[in-house]
Amino acid sequence: MLGKNKEKPTEERPVAPQVDMSRIPAHIAIIMDGNGRWATSRGLPRTMGHREGAQKFREIASFCQEIGVKVLTVYAFSTENWKRPAEEVSAIFQLFQEYLREAKEELQTRNIRIRVLGDLTPFKGELRSLIDEVQSMNPSPNALVANIAVNYGGRDELVTAANAAFAEKGAPLTQEDVERHLYTAGQPDPDLIIRTSGEFRISGFLLWQCAYSELYFSELLWPDFTPEELLRAIASYQGRNRRFGGIK
Ligand code: FPP
Repeated sequence: MLGKNKEKPTEERPVAPQVDMSRIPAHIAIIMDGNGRWATSRGLPRTMGHREGAQKFREIASFCQEIGVKVLTVYAFSTENWKRPAEEVSAIFQLFQEYLREAKEELQTRNIRIRVLGDLTPFKGELRSLIDEVQSMNPSPNALVANIAVNYGGRDELVTAANAAFAEKGAPLTQEDVERHLYTAGQPDPDLIIRTSGEFRISGFLLWQCAYSELYFSELLWPDFTPEELLRAIASYQGRNRRFGGIK
């Protein structure tokens, strides 16, 4: 069911999307949804869906690099995801840690700059050291910025940023004061936000930054997502009339 969404179902969209390569969105953000359903529909444990999902992230990050996306942000674990069974939570962090280990070895050759967005206070030991090490690495200035949102919640980010801004200068605060303390400080807002798996929600993702983002909802479960579907999302984005509240 598409509900009120105006997008056509994935299967009715053109196979070879017409994309203007000179107008690729600078920042694409993705809610990678549907890993659990992908696995259960195959009689596999949900954790296998997350493994496929992590692999899909690698594929899509490389494709984003190829086509000239500057920033890719993915939602890997929300502040609410702690409610899931301990085994699933631990599997997701295992996959995240595996990715960071790999990234530490190959960051220069892959030309990716990793940023972890979220409240990092619960992370200790090897995971925390890996996050710190990988974030402090300096690939070339034209590297793709890959933001991985972990223990991230948009409301949480806003309260943290507002408190930090208040502690710094007191009231009244401006938008710039808050922005300086967001996890994404210094980065452009997402031009395009994609959610997979046929769900039409933002789920607390980049609540401040999404103010003027274009939204695209894909029917595909995240492990089934493809570079072609990403191009379809970009073609749809390129057909939108972005007015940022003004008139064009
Ligand atoms: C949403 O699908 C997915 C998640 C909550 C976890 C995503 C995490 C990864 C892909 C691994 C992280 C690693 C890297 C390298 C980014 P869901 O489980 O909510 O799917 P469902 O709605 O079908 O149950």
